[in-house]
Amino acid sequence: MNSDKPEMSEFDSVDPAPPSGDSDVSSLRKTICDEQERMFQRMRALFALRNIGGEDSVEALAAAFSSDSALLKHEIAYVMGQMQDSHAVPHLIERLRDMDEDVMVRHEAAEALGAIGDRKALGVLEEFKDDRDIVVAESCEVALDLLEWVASKRLNYSE
Ligand SMILES: [Fe+2]
Repeated sequence: MNSDKPEMSEFDSVDPAPPSGDSDVSSLRKTICDEQERMFQRMRALFALRNIGGEDSVEALAAAFSSDSALLKHEIAYVMGQMQDSHAVPHLIERLRDMDEDVMVRHEAAEALGAIGDRKALGVLEEFKDDRDIVVAESCEVALDLLEWVASKRLNYSE
């Protein structure tokens, strides 16, 4: 591996911040939720929580949806999609449903619901596929197609 290249995560993406070396979920939760902390450090906590995974990490990430930062919330939704953990579904549905939420966050929540592939999200994605914000509407459409595509693949496998 070329050491000049930025470190690739197991998610095949180059992250905007390297994951924190901290592996304690409750301390990472404190960092990501701290509105006084630098965004770089909060992002580092975010990627560490994604890499650790599991329900507690999902809940720690979801707790930071209370932040004022649309950038951070958008990134939380994105990594929840990468984690493909159904525990994130109700939190993402809540973000998508919140009409006062930033459009960037609502769009990413919709895409993450598609990426997770839990059919519990079908109703809410149908509901917002004609959203007044075209970015949200299109994201719901993509997510619905993805859910359908995954379902059809599953059918083919079981034949
Ligand atoms: Fe996005």
